[in-house]
Amino acid sequence: MRISRRAATTIIGVTLASLAVSMIFWRVLGEAGIVIALAIFTGAILLALAWVHGRLLAQQARHHHALLEKTNTDYRQIEALSSLLWTLTPDLPLPRMRGWAASPDFLKELAEIILATRPGLVVETGSGVSTVVAGYCLRRLGRGRIVSLDHDPKLAAATRATLSLHDLHEVATVVDAPLTNVTVGGTAWRWYDTSSLKIDEPIDILVIDGPPGTTQALARYPAVPVFHGRMHDGSIILADDAKREDERQILSMWEKEFGLEPDFIDTETGACILRRRKPASP
Ligand SMILES: C[S@@+](CC[C@H](N)C(=O)[O-])C[C@H]1O[C@@H](n2cnc3c(N)ncnc32)[C@H](O)[C@@H]1O
Repeated sequence: MRISRRAATTIIGVTLASLAVSMIFWRVLGEAGIVIALAIFTGAILLALAWVHGRLLAQQARHHHALLEKTNTDYRQIEALSSLLWTLTPDLPLPRMRGWAASPDFLKELAEIILATRPGLVVETGSGVSTVVAGYCLRRLGRGRIVSLDHDPKLAAATRATLSLHDLHEVATVVDAPLTNVTVGGTAWRWYDTSSLKIDEPIDILVIDGPPGTTQALARYPAVPVFHGRMHDGSIILADDAKREDERQILSMWEKEFGLEPDFIDTETGACILRRRKPASP
């Protein structure tokens, strides 16, 4: 049994204090004083034990709840991953998911949207496993392509290499887009340099999963102002990390400024689908 220094000091202190109080009671009340002191100390010890027991129970309940939540989340990811794998039947293992990369439940939403809407052009900010998943969906549809912007040349090259290994380079491309100064609404932002992005057709789906939130406050805000003019009434925006405070703020800015209707999805990191709000019927 390991006893902390603080606990040992408390035990010694309480023992000495009880000895001192018992002696005072004995001097003042005689033998009856010792019995009274003993009863008071027994009551106090039982009270302290009950308090500690209550705290331990509450702590155990919290841990149990956290463990249940984690088990549920993990189960949902495994469920999403298996349905994704059954749908895509990839030729090779997929790159890692979760953490910096998208979670399986977000990727499942992405696959469902692409397969249901049969887009001609998907534009993505932040490449990775999501680009590979989108590539598989588009190859399966036999139409459309995805162009993904990445500010980090190493990660862009890694995604490119994965796309080649999976033989998806004809439907999925990664464009090097270092962060540069982009002025939106009179404000300067650090955002992707889109000068190498060559697209003529309208964007059917815009996937927003970059740049990383650490690059600046509201880092992903410019995505909609920059691409809005290239979108049409039926275009869909799919944003990841909608549970983050910054993203919540960005989503409500887009909603107000561009008349977009947000639809939140309870994925691991939160996802949001935005569509143009339909004009109210007369
Ligand atoms: C949220 S990530 C994009 C994830 C991507 N959509 C996916 O599904 O894998 C946004 C950016 O973070 C960068 N990034 C990815 N993995 C990283 C890592 N392990 N460490 C630091 N940055 C990373 C990449 O440049 C990427 O474009």
